[in-house]
Amino acid sequence: MDVYGPRVIVAGSINMDIVARVNRHPLPGETVSGKSLAYFPGGKGANQAVAAARAGADVHMVGAVGNDAFGPQLLSFLRDNFVDTTNISRRPDVSTGTALIVVDSNGENSIVYVGGANDELTAEEVAATDPHNGDVLVAEFETPLEATEALFRKGRSVGATCILNPAPARSTPSSLMSLVDVLVVNETELTTLSGMPVGESPAVEDVRLANDSLSKQGFVGCLVATLGSRGVVAFVGDRNIRIPGRKVKVLDTTGAGDCFTGYLASYLAMGYDIDRSLKAANVAASISVQRHGAGPSMPAKSEVDKIVEDQSTGT
Ligand code: RIB
Repeated sequence: MDVYGPRVIVAGSINMDIVARVNRHPLPGETVSGKSLAYFPGGKGANQAVAAARAGADVHMVGAVGNDAFGPQLLSFLRDNFVDTTNISRRPDVSTGTALIVVDSNGENSIVYVGGANDELTAEEVAATDPHNGDVLVAEFETPLEATEALFRKGRSVGATCILNPAPARSTPSSLMSLVDVLVVNETELTTLSGMPVGESPAVEDVRLANDSLSKQGFVGCLVATLGSRGVVAFVGDRNIRIPGRKVKVLDTTGAGDCFTGYLASYLAMGYDIDRSLKAANVAASISVQRHGAGPSMPAKSEVDKIVEDQSTGT
């Protein structure tokens, strides 16, 4: 008989991030000199998977890489981080997902994403992960929407929890929205999905109005709005949870949202309640922005738990 515990299953993108650091972003048509160039494992899905694994859960990833040198490097990185890669395929005629990233001296990034193999992930491949009751399923928007919907439909039928991070932002069909248990959004994504002008510094009331608008589109889950240095606002049933941001020195914000989502998924899968899971995710993201790169910047559970404990004892 199989011994079976809850898993985090991430269906998502796997990218090589090619990162140039600059003093400031170039304007259209302008050339600026870069200060450094680096290659980091990335991709929203892979970042979420690594964050979830470093947070302590049993993590399985479903995705695709291409037939180039990046593919094996990214698979090794995932395996080194204890992510099960059995369901990641290698496509023969396409490149591995790649992101060209420019990070300025404030740690803010701009990204050109080329999907490559990620664009070929199919509904059949994600359904083959065979989710069980208690599993936590995670998806974002760097892989085809049909694949995400197939995974969540299967997950919903067995009692798994479905977490969607709709990034990069795009409008989302109600057939998918109605399958989402936890929606993790930043201000841009919340504005795009809700059709409400949430703005850069939304008040709790703005988030509530956006949540009401999402409900009219068939969304019945928890809304988690990540507001960068201003922390997190969540609507969970009729409860409103607010978690303040942490003041830290920001080096690189790339992957901070993925870190948050992966940690949240992992803590929920391990049985922590939503309040504790949100606190841990908030702390984890605040650590990741103090480090270079996306995948490698994900913190260990011990680092996160120490800060969460210190916060609760006021030390
Ligand atoms: O969210 C950050 C990620 O988005 C990067 O790692 C990059 O791959 C982009 O797709």
